[in-house]
Amino acid sequence: MNRLLPFIKWSGSKGSQAKAISAYLPDNFNTYYEPFLGSGAVLGWLRPENAVCADINKALIDLWRLIQKDPNKVINEYKNNWEKLQKSYKFFYKIRDKFNKEKSPHHLLFLSRTCVNGLIRYNKQGEFNNSLHYTRKGIHPDRLKKIIFDWSDRIQNCNFMAQDYRRATKKARKGDFVYLDPPYFNTKGRYFGTINFAEFVEYLSDLNKRGIKYALSYDGLRAENSYIVEIPKELYKRHLLLPSGNSTFKKVQDKKVEKVFESLYLNY
Ligand SMILES: C[S@@+](CC[C@H](N)C(=O)[O-])C[C@H]1O[C@@H](n2cnc3c(N)ncnc32)[C@H](O)[C@@H]1O
Repeated sequence: MNRLLPFIKWSGSKGSQAKAISAYLPDNFNTYYEPFLGSGAVLGWLRPENAVCADINKALIDLWRLIQKDPNKVINEYKNNWEKLQKSYKFFYKIRDKFNKEKSPHHLLFLSRTCVNGLIRYNKQGEFNNSLHYTRKGIHPDRLKKIIFDWSDRIQNCNFMAQDYRRATKKARKGDFVYLDPPYFNTKGRYFGTINFAEFVEYLSDLNKRGIKYALSYDGLRAENSYIVEIPKELYKRHLLLPSGNSTFKKVQDKKVEKVFESLYLNY
């Protein structure tokens, strides 16, 4: 199966490791659950017969639903906005203000494709605050169209939910599979939403009790520094370190490039 190009750039995307991660997933499962969906890089390697995909970010989930049900509308809206942006850069800031009031999924896509480095970044008040990428005013609608239609085709069997990870996986049973990619501790605040570590550990323990297989992506190594947050040993069977290319945050902030390895914990 070929990898799909991302339709949105997302902090913490597993784009560079999705192929390696998907190679460790069980061969068979009933329903696939991905409750920290983001841009769905791992989902992009799969064509699950049944899937429940969730994220706490409602505008993002609304966008996934629109891509599934009405990809033409998504691309037409993007094209309209993109054409206005080519005439005036001020249009970006008009849409940014609107997005922070209305949280339209169309505006989320437009902002992500036209902001600096595509980084969806929120301030403490939960407002999107990145600026326009002046020198590259957004992917051309004709190119984006193919990406959106490829995804639409791939996600027809997915049920999308704008919910907390625990509620989204409540109905999971033995025989189902859960892929987890929560916000990491040392990047807390950069993502939309945070999770409580103790509650998350309890959740993993509950998945084990319910006999549900999971794979968990978590922080690992950056250059010589270990960012490994100890997941209690009784909760998993294997801990792998997968190369994930270079650190985007470091690259943007310090103009330095560092090798990064990320953890993958498997309870099978
Ligand atoms: C590391 S990112 C996931 C990246 C994704 N794997 C990808 O390839 O783009 C973590 C995601 O968890 C979401 N999130 C944060 N808190 C959450 C919660 N309590 N329940 C569900 N999703 C949450 C964030 O909105 C963010 O999209």
